[in-house]
Amino acid sequence: MITGASSGIGAAFAEALAARGLDLVLVARRKELLERLARGLEQSRGIATEVLEADLTLNQDLALVEQRIAAAANLELLVNNAGFGTRGKFFNVDARSQDQMHRLHVLATMRLTHAALEGMVQRGRGGVINVSSVAAFWQSPGSVSYCATKCWMNSFTEGLALELAGSRSPVSVQALCPGYTRSEFHDTAGMKREAIPSSWWMTAEDVVAASLRGLERGDTFVIPGWRYQAAVFLLKHAPRVLLRRIAVHQMRRMGRD
Ligand SMILES: NC(=O)c1ccc[n+]([C@@H]2O[C@H](COP(=O)([O-])OP(=O)(O)OC[C@H]3O[C@@H](n4cnc5c(N)ncnc54)[C@H](OP(=O)(O)O)[C@@H]3O)[C@@H](O)[C@H]2O)c1
Repeated sequence: MITGASSGIGAAFAEALAARGLDLVLVARRKELLERLARGLEQSRGIATEVLEADLTLNQDLALVEQRIAAAANLELLVNNAGFGTRGKFFNVDARSQDQMHRLHVLATMRLTHAALEGMVQRGRGGVINVSSVAAFWQSPGSVSYCATKCWMNSFTEGLALELAGSRSPVSVQALCPGYTRSEFHDTAGMKREAIPSSWWMTAEDVVAASLRGLERGDTFVIPGWRYQAAVFLLKHAPRVLLRRIAVHQMRRMGRD
């Protein structure tokens, strides 16, 4: 099952997993995009697909997806990928968008993972990929809730990995932490792509390939691309006070709203 499969990284996961012969349940709000993707994969890969139209910020839709997971006795992989960003200072952006972001990144991830792991741990097989971000490793003014919810995702995934290892379970969990990836993400968030050098952009296909290689190795954290691996190393080891100064200075220089 892949959430947020109607575009970007989620659609790339659908392509890559269909190429491995896995049947798919595709979840998102835009049903027509999911159906088009599903039909294409059925024809090109000969797999079975199912489309679930769901807004995962709504309790009743989330409950239906939870029930679908509970009924899937053969669920091999859950990809919690649905997500979005907003631009602007926390106290200037509307509270509803921040509420929805927390529902989607935190509550939906937690509830769907719980629904999936119950069966997977009993069966002794399966995996969960939580699509986080390199933004999880620091606080970027203008994206406060985004960084905070992705940081939660990393912490949650690491905690689960420890519990599973402590229980000698072969079920694996992964926090996938991509950097700038070409998708609809930046259009939705109203961010300009031109400000980012082209060498820092990755394709959704490369991000997914790194994630699936990491899943085979059992890696808890996957950071696609050497640039982002180096950046995360610096973020983890540079003095926090220095990072805070750089973030505040950069925000003032850019005059970000
Ligand atoms: N692109 C990047 O640079 C980047 C970097 C790091 C991490 N990420 C993460 O990667 C994940 C995928 O993003 P993307 O880059 O592929 O962006 P995208 O092309 O905008 O895809 C986002 C997906 O999430 C779905 N979605 C959004 N709100 C939803 C809701 N309320 N209920 C159900 N589905 C919802 C969208 O489908 P519908 O609109 O059809 O519902 C869409 O399929 C996100 O979690 C994002 O935070 C992206």
